[in-house]
Amino acid sequence: DRSIKIAPSILAADFANFGAECEAIEAQGADWVHVDVMDGHFVPNITFGPAMCAAIRPHIKGVMDVHLMIAPVDPYIDAFANAGADVITAHVEAGPHIHRTLQAIRAAGAKAGVALNPGTPAEAVAHLLDLTDLICVMTVNPGFGGQKFIDMSDKIRTLRSMIGDRPVHIEIDGGVDPKTAPMVAQAGADVLVAGSAVFKGGSVSDPAPYGANIREI
Ligand code: DX5
Ligand code: ZN
Repeated sequence: DRSIKIAPSILAADFANFGAECEAIEAQGADWVHVDVMDGHFVPNITFGPAMCAAIRPHIKGVMDVHLMIAPVDPYIDAFANAGADVITAHVEAGPHIHRTLQAIRAAGAKAGVALNPGTPAEAVAHLLDLTDLICVMTVNPGFGGQKFIDMSDKIRTLRSMIGDRPVHIEIDGGVDPKTAPMVAQAGADVLVAGSAVFKGGSVSDPAPYGANIREI
């Protein structure tokens, strides 16, 4: 279903070749590029920060979708916006002031996303619907790629009805593959992040598997 956007996560890419990996996945049909920023504090893993985002920006024609798994968020919003992020997503669990954070993301000129861990109910965003452009439903506990999908179909359906006719994306992140993608799309998701399922079997020198994997999702 091509109204569904596929956002490969470069967490599963070759860390020594991010620029070339971004060009390869876009050439192979990726709609967005998903960038997982982790701080070793909000999640038990460390990846990269705004300087890396700025470095890959010229290698991405489309949407750079930056998923912040960091706490605090607010001191770094301008840095990620200046690095060229189109979407900046912060976790509702990352601090007491997600409402302020979403306002600050929009003020910095980016689209504002809010992410929910698997243990957090849909109702956590009830008072944020007019401040957000995207709700990211985590279907794994954040921190690592390649984890087993956790079914959040009920939460997705609840969010779709809460959103009503607002122009808000529902993005799914974690364990998305050709088996789980139809379930989340059916429940109302329209942006699917996929790391391992997109990058498996390919490389910058042999990128055709990326395209085949994207088409299978
Ligand atoms: C998890 C990240 C995800 C992850 C997805 O903390 O936010 O974006 O990389 O990877 P897969 O598709 O392998 O679960
Ligand atoms: Zn992510």
